[in-house]
Amino acid sequence: MLDLLLHNATLADGRTGMGVAVQGGVITAVTAGLSPVNAPAHEVVDAEGQLLSAPFVDAHFHMDATLSYGLPRVNASGTLLEGIALWGELKPMLTQDALVERALAYCDWAVAKGLLAIRSHVDICDDRLLAVDALLEVKRRVAPYLDLQLVAFPQDGLLRAPTALNNLKRALAKGVDVVGGIPHFERTMADGAASVKRLCELAADQGKMVDMHCDESDDPMSRHVETLAYETHRLGLHGRVTGSHLTSMHSMDNYYVSKLLALMAEARLNVVANPLINITLQGRHDTYPKRRGMTRVPEQLAAGLTVAFGHDCVMDPWYSLGSGDMLEVAHMGLHVAQMTSQAAMRQCFEAVTTNPAQILGLTHFGIEAGREASFVLLQARDTVEAIRLRAQRLKVYRKGRLLAEGPALRSRLQIAGRPAEVSFQTTPHQR
Ligand code: FE2
Repeated sequence: MLDLLLHNATLADGRTGMGVAVQGGVITAVTAGLSPVNAPAHEVVDAEGQLLSAPFVDAHFHMDATLSYGLPRVNASGTLLEGIALWGELKPMLTQDALVERALAYCDWAVAKGLLAIRSHVDICDDRLLAVDALLEVKRRVAPYLDLQLVAFPQDGLLRAPTALNNLKRALAKGVDVVGGIPHFERTMADGAASVKRLCELAADQGKMVDMHCDESDDPMSRHVETLAYETHRLGLHGRVTGSHLTSMHSMDNYYVSKLLALMAEARLNVVANPLINITLQGRHDTYPKRRGMTRVPEQLAAGLTVAFGHDCVMDPWYSLGSGDMLEVAHMGLHVAQMTSQAAMRQCFEAVTTNPAQILGLTHFGIEAGREASFVLLQARDTVEAIRLRAQRLKVYRKGRLLAEGPALRSRLQIAGRPAEVSFQTTPHQR
């Protein structure tokens, strides 16, 4: 007898009437027509035709800053640079206990939203490495629920902050997974390029992945993405390097981008755009028209790059909203990138599920036999409807264990003879 059977489910690829069999925390079969009659199980869930999705994955977050909104004050200008300055004011006041407490609270929110893997940058410029120790502790404590991958992030600049390189090496030695960077914040373009070279060489030496904040600016002449692609190719780090933000690409000359995309594809550079943050932080120095500022996601996908949408911030010096809902992130990404065709909207769902899972190297995620039994049952008929409704999470499973559940949203109003129960869902779209 199986541990768990979910039957009558719709999958993200459009297959309907599917059954998912689970034994020992692992998916043992994904087959049409599986039911309690032909596959008895201790726990049976009738999905009633709703969407069963792989877990949400956030490829770009700052868990050391999350839920600190208002400490010690709010960001008055709303700019990236005031956010960095504000974080600098807060850093000396941080305590490890408060950091751990806020991060654990956020992980609770995340799991309830079906977000079961997060890559978080952690600032290493504080010589105490307080945030590193705190998030390593959080990583250990949430491991049964959530995969937390950490990036050693020199927030104040690898070369601009005198102890950053040494601190970054110390953070890696403590167990931080990925090498980070912020070349556009170094003092000069030349220093930015030097930091990219240095950090990629360090990652190559230590067999680490790279994920850099890269060209998070509206400067059309910024060239750190080019350097990142070049160093990735030179050092043979293909597919192991991610450029986060890349907002300068929004403002670059079209001819130059046509060359740059080919270099990025050659290096198999991964991309993370952060739509909620890019649309609020970029273009702040513009009058009108104001640039949207998000990187060129449809063109990067067309070039064959793996592109994810990240959350980046929730209630911190840079962003006052957010709730760990990756469908909200996908919804904003879809709008900012004008990805409104049916195919493009489905790509937006992949940008918060399968694509970030690939970027993080999570080969155990996915609804296939032999993979970890981790998935989310959504109150939606397909992936487009999931984004449209920011669909309710009905059930969240990790390794076959139910971690969270919520009621289906229904209205029981009776207005002018309309049906007593109203659903926001529609019949499945003709593919
Ligand atoms: Fe970030």
